[in-house]
Amino acid sequence: MTYIIAPSVLAADLNHLGDQVQQAADAGADWIHVDVMDGRFVPNITFGPNVVKALRKITNLPIDVHLMIVEPEKHLRAFADAGATHITVHYETCPHIHRTLQSIREMGVSPAIVINPGTAVNVLHELTQDFDTVLIMTVNPGFGGQVFIKTMLNKIQLTKALLTETKSEAKIQVDGGIDHLTIQACYEAGATNFIAGSAIFKHPDGIAAGIKALQKALHK
Ligand code: DX5
Ligand code: ZN
Repeated sequence: MTYIIAPSVLAADLNHLGDQVQQAADAGADWIHVDVMDGRFVPNITFGPNVVKALRKITNLPIDVHLMIVEPEKHLRAFADAGATHITVHYETCPHIHRTLQSIREMGVSPAIVINPGTAVNVLHELTQDFDTVLIMTVNPGFGGQVFIKTMLNKIQLTKALLTETKSEAKIQVDGGIDHLTIQACYEAGATNFIAGSAIFKHPDGIAAGIKALQKALHK
């Protein structure tokens, strides 16, 4: 079974960010997920390119940058230069989404698109050759620790069918409320890339135990 586990540093102890990311890497994390929030598209404010640059210095893992910001096209260059491996933009923030995805690719970064729980899968139809990853939000973006929205399982299946129909090789990623209880159903619906914040960084037995619990749930 091939899958990606991407710990979201939103839930990490920021006083020990480098150490926490190292622990996640040692425990088998595949990518590091960075949630960029601007207080406009979403209520919360988090990290900028300087944090991506700092992470780039301490890990060789791919860095997955999730832009929850208005006018993301203005900031792509800064995140690319900071060392992002993947940049994910919200369909809801991009009036010229095709151009934005092309720009990301031209910068040598892997383009990804994300849709909110309330956005229909069919908006992806004309774009399936233009992104490497499609992220289906399984909570409304803005905060960690929210409850997984079960109706998104059907949406993952619809996305999988669309990718098959349009002969796209893109991978399906999920983000929000992913834990040992929800991850397997997402995999069965068609997702292969799993972002998890609380389930990893706030696991009572530590970061490695959090990652192991997710891996174990997938291998059941
Ligand atoms: C939510 C973020 C997520 C968040 C997930 O807007 O995009 O990446 O960190 O956190 P958990 O896994 O705690 O739901
Ligand atoms: Zn995210």
